[in-house]
Amino acid sequence: PEGDYEKGKKLFKSRCFQCHVVETDETKTGPTLKGLIGRKSGTVAGYDYSAANKNKGVVWTRETLFEYLLNPKKFIPGTKMVFAGLKKADERADLIKYIEVESAK
Ligand code: HEM
Repeated sequence: PEGDYEKGKKLFKSRCFQCHVVETDETKTGPTLKGLIGRKSGTVAGYDYSAANKNKGVVWTRETLFEYLLNPKKFIPGTKMVFAGLKKADERADLIKYIEVESAK
């Protein structure tokens, strides 16, 4: 389903922004999510990934993010991202919509 940008923006601020930015190249606890869509996992230059994230070898798309964000530790066993996941499919779709728009700017 096509997500809702405004709802996704609110979700990003409340659930992701403590560790990630999407609008700039800034590194926080987590790597920047700018340019995320279409990028191979673990490839932000200079970011110190876990081996698990670095070697996952997946391309971040709407589909792979939808699965990853449901249960990050299941999708990437050994990830150092401390995030339980978003169980609600509509929340994941909203978040991905926001990331798609912002990360491509
Ligand atoms: C990694 C998204 C919440 C910390 C990642 C990656 C994505 C992502 C896509 C992989 C990046 C890549 O391969 O280049 C999100 C989204 C979140 C969220 C959409 C909110 C729903 C958080 C939170 C934290 C966090 C709350 C900190 C408490 C990290 C860290 C990594 C990471 C440390 C690197 C993992 C590793 O190297 O094993 N995140 N994240 N993230 N995230 Fe998040």
